[in-house]
This record gives sequence, structure tokens and C-alpha cells, in this order.
Amino acid sequence: MKVAIASDHGAVELRKEVMKVMDELGIEYEDFGCDGSCSVDYPDYAIPVAEKVANGEFDRGILLCGTGIGMSIAANKVSGIRCALVHDLFSAKATREHNDSNILAMGGRIMGPGLGAEIARVWLTTEFEGGRHERRVGKITDYEKKSLS
Ligand code: RB5
Repeated sequence: MKVAIASDHGAVELRKEVMKVMDELGIEYEDFGCDGSCSVDYPDYAIPVAEKVANGEFDRGILLCGTGIGMSIAANKVSGIRCALVHDLFSAKATREHNDSNILAMGGRIMGPGLGAEIARVWLTTEFEGGRHERRVGKITDYEKKSLS
């Protein structure tokens, strides 16, 4: 699995912790910033990462900002993206099993980096269950295709 990760200035510490988890798990990833030296605009990070996941260059993405909200809103504008905003371990597992989320968004100002790192670990290591969930995710994909044609 290849993961694209980025954050704005509101989640640089959390991004470092999540990258440590990926190092531990032996997951290949590419870090798309930011360097944290100044205030940046989250869509400038969310949209390129979401596009890289949507076009298959990366299997999954992780997007972090102060709340995770801006990153998730922006990423979900990209066709094919199912970005889940998560701040608890139950949702981290459920969104992989049920929604096949391909991007994880979290907020560095909402929780500590320890919890964020564990959420990332669960999200990265949980498989999609398929079955009835496949049908439901398929309905979202069908709607996207229809609305774009
Ligand atoms: C930046 O101050 C902040 O707005 C951003 O990190 C994020 O929380 C937006 O949703």
C-alpha cells in the first residue's frame, strides 16, 4: 500500500506521529508537507493529495489540519474520494470496514498526537468488509458518475 500524506500548519506534530506509525508498519508513503513554518491554505494540500488517490498514483491518503474539517470537505470534492473525518478508534475501524474510505482526515487541534497515531494505525490496518457495504458504496459511486456525465 502506498499512502500520500499532508497537513497544514494546524497538524504538523500529528503528521510526524502518523508518519512514525507508517514507518513502524512498513507502509510506503510520500510526505507532501507543509513544513509548518507559516500559515497555509488547506485546499492547496487536500486537493492534490485527493487527486493522487483518485487517479491511482496512491492507494490511500491522510490529510490533517486544525480540525480535519476543511481537509475532508475539500478532499470529498474530488470524484472517487471517500474521505472520513475521524477522531475516535471505533469510527476509524468502521469507516474502513463499511465505507471503504480511501482518505483519513483528522484534526491536530482536536486531540493529542497519541490518539491520532492510534487512529491512523487502526485505519491503515483495517480491511473493507465488502458484501452489503459494497452495494452501499456502489450507490455513491453511481451517483458521482451520473452527476459528472
Ligand atoms: C487553520 O487555521 C484552520 O482553519 C485549518 O487548519 C482547519 O482547521 C480548517 O478546517
